[in-house]
Amino acid sequence: MPGGRGVIITAPDRIEENGAAPMKEILAELERRRKEAWLGGGEKRIEAQHKRGKLTARERIDVFLDEHSFEEVDIYVEHRCTEFGMGDTKVAGDGVIIGSGTVNGRTVYVFAKDFTVFGGSLSETHAAKIVKLQEMALRNRAPIIGLFDAGGARIQEGVAALGGYGEVFQRNVLASGVIPQISVIMGPCAGGDVYSPAMTDFIFMVRDTSYMFVTGPDVVKTVTNEIVTSEELGGASVHTTKSSVSDGSFENDVEALLQMRRLIDYLPVNNKADLPEIETQDDANRVELSLDSLIPDNPNKPYDMKELILKTVDEGDFFEIQQNHAKNIIVGFARMEGRTVGIVANQPMVLAGVLDIDASKKAARFVRFCDCFNIPIVTFVDVPGFLPGTAQEYGGLIKHGAKLLFAYAEATVPKVTVITRKAYGGAYDVMSSKHLRGDFNYAWPTAEIAVMGAKGAVEILYRSELGDPEKIAARTAEYQRRFANPFVAAERGYIDDVIKPHATRSRVARALRLLRNKHLENPWKKHDNIPL
Ligand code: HXC
Repeated sequence: MPGGRGVIITAPDRIEENGAAPMKEILAELERRRKEAWLGGGEKRIEAQHKRGKLTARERIDVFLDEHSFEEVDIYVEHRCTEFGMGDTKVAGDGVIIGSGTVNGRTVYVFAKDFTVFGGSLSETHAAKIVKLQEMALRNRAPIIGLFDAGGARIQEGVAALGGYGEVFQRNVLASGVIPQISVIMGPCAGGDVYSPAMTDFIFMVRDTSYMFVTGPDVVKTVTNEIVTSEELGGASVHTTKSSVSDGSFENDVEALLQMRRLIDYLPVNNKADLPEIETQDDANRVELSLDSLIPDNPNKPYDMKELILKTVDEGDFFEIQQNHAKNIIVGFARMEGRTVGIVANQPMVLAGVLDIDASKKAARFVRFCDCFNIPIVTFVDVPGFLPGTAQEYGGLIKHGAKLLFAYAEATVPKVTVITRKAYGGAYDVMSSKHLRGDFNYAWPTAEIAVMGAKGAVEILYRSELGDPEKIAARTAEYQRRFANPFVAAERGYIDDVIKPHATRSRVARALRLLRNKHLENPWKKHDNIPL
């Protein structure tokens, strides 16, 4: 730690006649204490932090916030622990920097764990600082962002640190759904420093320098005899793909922080705030003729749903969430006429866009986030159904698929749906259908809305004719003609209109405009009981 662990205000050299130190010296002393606090764990540890390719906590806040906007509080807070010789090792700030500032002019609250001070570990006073910030953010209804680089509970403090985490967790839960909470993992994080992020809305990581685990590789080896590296156990490569704990990862600290600024720009500041509105040059009536040929002639051939998303939203600007997990569904934020929308879309390029356990969980959580914060949802549908098989059934597809169904059904935000091709079976119902209070449900002329595809249907209905290929071909063609189109659903009013693909942007934009004052309330309840 820097020279002055256990800072004492040195007596001024000169005393005025009235017994007070001259103002110049008082100010110099203030400056000295500030500078000492700014140094955190000292030059050597800062150097080590830089050598690992990481910025310091203060540098991170500098990159994240608008210039000169940071209003820091609690810079002089120290821990009160005396065990293990800790009485002599005090550092102003106690390993976490807290305060508020602005991102493109909008207020946010931010805390950054300082790895150079006791590895950013959490003491009783460190926890009290975070709690103070959480309460300020909640009271003032503004987003809170945590920059994590920390080794969990401060071992020397024992249960006082555990209690501190409990207080932080409790406030994470109270703030959930009221203000956006974002966690960025920027170093090795363990214990409570992964559980608190787990209760926030989004977790992002920095590739190669950040890790998340409840217990690190050493403990794993002792308990299970498994030998794993930190990266194998909890690197960004694991958490953005396999575990889905993380919503995305970035190349380095600066990229991560700049992308967080971009994300903040999409988010309302609280659950009662208006949608942010950003000026756009993109004409709402822009026609995209290329979309008329997006759907291949062969119904089994894939196409890239991202092309439709990028060509529909303002300026092709899309902030994707969980890009590398359950790629058969795409979720993320975009804008229409300058206002934020949440996009959910099946991706025919991956597993034909089928709904499986991972896709259902991913999309359900995203839909619920949008509904919490009044962000309209635009859904693009091309889904052959739920994925069959023992792996899925044993894994609980029924419960997990129900999460997405539940999420769409409870959502009261504006919901606009466009079916481009397949909408088969239960998945038709799930994907923001009219029956789940979809506000505008459109279909392209290429849509096939049916219980299942023609081949499967004919094999079940005409099992006795399976030996006769000619008959089966005729039956299939008949089924295709009768059911593989949007008009059966449109005739019933399940589809509000069959639209031309090239007009998708203008139709979606107009629908959202019409829904700006939508008011829909669910019956009073303490809270629902979504199948977890
Ligand atoms: C006190 C800690 C600390 C901790 C690290 N340090 N973790 N001090 N309490 N939890 C200190 C180190 O002593 C060291 O001090 C400095 O931080 C840097 O740590 P290193 O180990 O040198 O760094 P590195 O090799 O990069 O490893 C980082 C690490 C490792 C992976 C985080 O330190 C580690 O495994 N720490 C313990 C993690 C842990 O098990 N925490 C408790 C979890 S339980 P000097 O003075 O040398 O710079 C928990 C309970 C809540 O959090 C659970 C709620 C559900």
